[in-house]
Amino acid sequence: MAAAGSAVGLGNVWGFPTKTASNGGAAFLVIYLIMVFLLAFPMLVAELTIGRHGQSNPVASLRSIWTRNRVGATFFGLIAMVTASLLLSFYSIIAGWLIGFSAAPTFEVLGMNNVSDWLVSFGDTRNVVLAVIFSLLTIYVVKNGVADGIEKWSTRLMPMLFVLFAVMIAYIFTQDGAIDGLKMYLIPDVSHITAPLLVDALGQAFFSLSLGVGSMIAYGSYLKKDVNIPKTAAQVAAIDTGVAFGAGLLILPAMFVAKHNGVQIFNDAGELISSSDLVFQVLPSMFDTMGGAGIIIGTAFFVLMVIAALTSSISLLEVPVSCAQDELNMTRGKATWLIGGLITVTSIIISLNFGALFNFVATFTTVYMQPLLGAVWAVFVGWIWHRNNLLNEIKQGNPDIEQGLFWKIWPWYVRLVCPIAIVMVFLFSIL
Ligand code: TRP
Repeated sequence: MAAAGSAVGLGNVWGFPTKTASNGGAAFLVIYLIMVFLLAFPMLVAELTIGRHGQSNPVASLRSIWTRNRVGATFFGLIAMVTASLLLSFYSIIAGWLIGFSAAPTFEVLGMNNVSDWLVSFGDTRNVVLAVIFSLLTIYVVKNGVADGIEKWSTRLMPMLFVLFAVMIAYIFTQDGAIDGLKMYLIPDVSHITAPLLVDALGQAFFSLSLGVGSMIAYGSYLKKDVNIPKTAAQVAAIDTGVAFGAGLLILPAMFVAKHNGVQIFNDAGELISSSDLVFQVLPSMFDTMGGAGIIIGTAFFVLMVIAALTSSISLLEVPVSCAQDELNMTRGKATWLIGGLITVTSIIISLNFGALFNFVATFTTVYMQPLLGAVWAVFVGWIWHRNNLLNEIKQGNPDIEQGLFWKIWPWYVRLVCPIAIVMVFLFSIL
């Protein structure tokens, strides 16, 4: 559940619908599902396996595999740590917006309209203040240790989020215009399948399943030896993909309903106008049409989303913190404040230079670093790890696996197909 909590977050509700809408809808959905199944899921198994084998922080877990080149393993671990930190620094900004949207309706009801307007309008001060609040929440949870608290939170709140989604989806289809969104979402137009779409879909799949930067290696280290890793990974991937699919089913129709209600969503050339805050225009416009119920449902939705973002952000901060704690012998409190503080400062710098830095950092980390690091872990698992040791690790908790198809395919698949396919998609992106 903690790993599912890490996977389900802004990537599902903000990243996936935005990317789907700007890449032509159904074509993106189809390629995304293929990428999740063919590349992200096998890599999720790989990362959880590395972590469970190492039973330690991501850097140490990598060293437990590349025992002959500890410096090399540490080097890649450090790159993952820096990438996780950068990811978190831009993630906190968007998560901060969620805080703004969850608090705004209350201020509006209290008649404090300028506060509620400030909370939901793009601006440097708002972006900084809310990002700092979200960072402090993340620091607070990580400082107190990830393993116990979060699992409880995730188990209780995730079902609530599902129910709310179902209510909102049912509602949106009572509105005019929703069917156009549904058509865009579900009827594929193959002419949209281009190289940039493939790159976006792979990046999105890796982002959504929290791959590449060591989050899942860290969470794998908490798994007991009797846990069936392929099954756990399949459950995490299924929950995560289900939530993303549901978010698309809500937001694409909601886009067209908003358009019908006069919100500008597309420009004259038919392109989406603003992508990074698309969801933040479309959803509030939907809650507005619900009257009084919209205030309650809107607040509940954004509060649950803040928590979903929090169960993701802690898995990012956990990577550098657990490494610093073990490798530099710091206390957990000190490591969390120091690294969390540095990341918060980075968030502030990005907020204050939003136009120049936000997309740059987001693209650099998600489109380039995540898949590349994924390819590196595939090489760790497929080429560096002694095959018998790898198979023994997978077999624990799953003694019958030797009879199954997974066993016959996965080891060579991670060895050959994963690294080559990831690097090919990556080359697409730079050519
Ligand atoms: N997967 C999370 C989301 O969809 C974000 C996230 C958490 C993440 N840990 C990660 C993304 C590690 C990339 C790498 O919102």
